[in-house]
Formats: sequence, structure tokens, C-alpha cells
Amino acid sequence: MSDHRKTKAQLIAELESLRQQLATRRDADVTASSFLAPSSPEEGPHPLASVSLDVPEHHGTEVWLQNLIETTQDAVVSIDRHGRITIFNSAAERIFGYRRAEIQGQPLQRLMPEPYASEHDRYVQRYEQTHEARAIGMIRTVSGKRKNGEVFPIELSVTEVRVEDHVHYAAFIRDISERVQLQDRLLERERLAMVGTTAAKLVHEIGNPLNSMSIALQLLQRRLGPSVGDEPLRSSFQSLTGQMTRLANLLQEFRALSRRQTPNLQLMDLRTVVDDVLATEAPIHVERKIVVERQLAADLPLIHGDRDKLQQVLLNLCKNAVEAMPGGGTLTVRVRNSGNQVFLEVTDTGVGIPYGVNILEPFVTTKAEGTGLGLPIVRQIVSAHGGTLDYTSSPGQGTTFIVTLPQGQTDTSTQ
Ligand SMILES: Nc1ncnc2c1ncn2[C@@H]1O[C@H](COP(=O)(O)OP(=O)(O)O)[C@@H](O)[C@H]1O
Ligand SMILES: [Mg+2]
Repeated sequence: MSDHRKTKAQLIAELESLRQQLATRRDADVTASSFLAPSSPEEGPHPLASVSLDVPEHHGTEVWLQNLIETTQDAVVSIDRHGRITIFNSAAERIFGYRRAEIQGQPLQRLMPEPYASEHDRYVQRYEQTHEARAIGMIRTVSGKRKNGEVFPIELSVTEVRVEDHVHYAAFIRDISERVQLQDRLLERERLAMVGTTAAKLVHEIGNPLNSMSIALQLLQRRLGPSVGDEPLRSSFQSLTGQMTRLANLLQEFRALSRRQTPNLQLMDLRTVVDDVLATEAPIHVERKIVVERQLAADLPLIHGDRDKLQQVLLNLCKNAVEAMPGGGTLTVRVRNSGNQVFLEVTDTGVGIPYGVNILEPFVTTKAEGTGLGLPIVRQIVSAHGGTLDYTSSPGQGTTFIVTLPQGQTDTSTQ
């Protein structure tokens, strides 16, 4: 009998532990019981045990919902009534850069940039008083803040969930930064296409009369003969010619920007472009007291390039560099390669580029006589070569423009 009691005590302890484990599942009803029952007349009473686990129907649904929240591509974030984060799914971890463990219990404002962060408390208070739902139930495009501080566009929809008298808020958040970037790029392309069409019309409308004016001016000069040398007639002619040349240059740049840049690509050595441009510009460099340094890597691979267009690229960059050094300075043109890329770098010791000016935009210029079309043309040509244009600049110290071009593929099959 004592044997049986011992076994029974053990059994009860085991059952109790099992019951406790199961009881942590709040949704399941657990009953455990043990009793003595005769199993056979010879052996006498024998301990028997039963455990019943009553899992309600909705439990399966809840697990399913949890999986759904966990695997969805949208960030799901929910807060308690103090505005502290409770649910933070995997997508939220990926999008915001926080681990669940570090952000749970933190105020929701961690995920918001200003001014949303400061407005949020007031907003929730007002909502609870007035139920004026500005955010609830609709999709809004606002900004989020990642752990690294980056502010990015999000689509946000907030829902209100009532669980036993408590109101919970859950937000579904979609990172739309890629989509916004794509839209921006498309808009930019559309805008450039429009500039192109307008430019083509303008070139035609202005080019023809300008041509006639230029011819008329030459005729006039010829008719007036030697008296053109007299002041003030001479300076009037000079100014007229200067202004007309400027207009003609502007038109030429317009024309370059409006034409589709389909470069005529050939295997070529970028160093010859540097030599040609620096030779052409040498007289200006001497006149403007500019020291020129050439740094051309010896073992440079060839590239697929359009010689004329790349000359225009380097010429525009060198002209800008010279114009940034009104009192003279050093112009360094460097060609080097790394990996499968060739870099053409133009550095000056000039005034630098002011902060906050997007100089790659068409018509952005800081020069009295500038067109703001030089760099857009450069960028257009470079991207038609499959390359990129970047720059670094320190105001008052100088600027470097970097053209990155893909290295040419030499056809080895014919060798
Ligand atoms: N090397 C440079 N140093 C300083 N500023 C520059 C340099 N290159 C370009 N910029 C700035 O970018 C603007 C746009 O250049 P660009 O498109 O060539 O037009 P533009 O030369 O007619 O002004 C310039 O007006 C100038 O403010
Ligand atoms: Mg320029």
C-alpha cells in the first residue's frame, strides 16, 4: 500500500507541474485529477490519472493571426494606452532597424521624426476626447524615422481595437521610399524631356533671327568701314557682338541638352581626351594664372566612349573649375581606374559649391552670365555612357568632380 501511496504522491506532483505548464497558456482550460481505482482484483487499488486540456476554438485563429502579423511585409506596430510599443513584428524590425527587444516598451515617438513626434501626444489626447479621427481608418503618407536617424516616407494606416474596455491602437506601416525615389526619377526624366522639347522650339525660334542679326551686324560693320574703329561706335559694336555670341552659346547648349544623347561608342583611351582638352584650353590657363596638373595612370584600361562627347564633358568641367578660381589656382585632372571602372577627376582650388544648391539641376547658376546648362549636359552625356557624375566640395577650398565610367570590354574572342 505504501508503495502505491508513494507512486500516487509522485504522480500528483508530476500532474501539478504539467498543469502549471499548461496553465500558462491563458486560453486553455486545464483540469488535472488523480484518483485511486482498482485495476484488477488481485493488485488492489491502482493510481490513475487524467489530464484534460480544453483548448477553445478561437485559439487556432489567434495563432494564425499572430503568424499573419509576423510574416506580413508591412510593419505592424501597436501601442498600449500609455503610447508605449507592445507589438513590433519582423517587418517593423527590418524597416525601422530596431530589434523587438530594444523597442518594446519604448514610446512610439521613437519611430517618428519631428514635428510628428511632438504632435503625437496632443493628437492622441484630442482623439480620445473628441473622436475626431484624422488618422484612424485612412491611409496617410507621412514620415518615419529609422534607428540610424534616417527619415523616410511611409504609408500609414491606424486602426483602433477595443479589447475589454481598453482601447489599443495598431498601425500598419509600409516603407515607400523606393517608390517615391522611382517617382522622383520619372518626374525628373519627364521634366528633362519637356525641357528638351521646349529647348528645340526655342533654338529654332531664336536661332534664325539671331543668325540674321549676326549677318546684318557684319554687313553694317563692313559698310561703315574705317569709322567703326572710332569710340563710342567701336565699343557699341563690341558689346553687341559679345551679347550675340553669348546668346549663340546659350542656344548651342540648349541644343546639346535637347538632343537625345546617343553616343557613338568606340574603344578609346581617355587620356587622349585629357591631352586634347588641356591643349585647347592652355592659353586661357596661362592668362588666368592657373597651374595645371595632369595625373594619368600608366596602365589604364580602354573604355567605350564617344570622343567628341567626352571632350565636351571635360571641357565643361574644366571651364567651371577655371571660373571658380578668379584669382588663379591649381587645376588637377586625374584619370585612374579601380575594379572595372575608370575615374576622370577634375579638381580645383576655387570658391567651392555653396551648401544647399542643387547645381546638377538645369538652369541653376550662380554666375551673372551663366546658363546653368553645363553640368546637366555633362550628366546627360555621362549617363548615356553608363556612368555617373559626383562631386565633393568645401566652400572656400575647392571642388572635385568625379566622372565614373565602366571599363571597356575588349573582345577576346577574335584574339
Ligand atoms: N568647380 C566648381 N566650383 C564651384 N562651383 C561650381 C563648380 N562647377 C559648377 N559650379 C556651380 O554650379 C553651377 C552650375 O554650373 P553649370 O551647370 O556648368 O552652369 P554655369 O557654369 O553656366 O553656371 C555654377 O553656376 C556654379 O555655381
Ligand atoms: Mg558651366
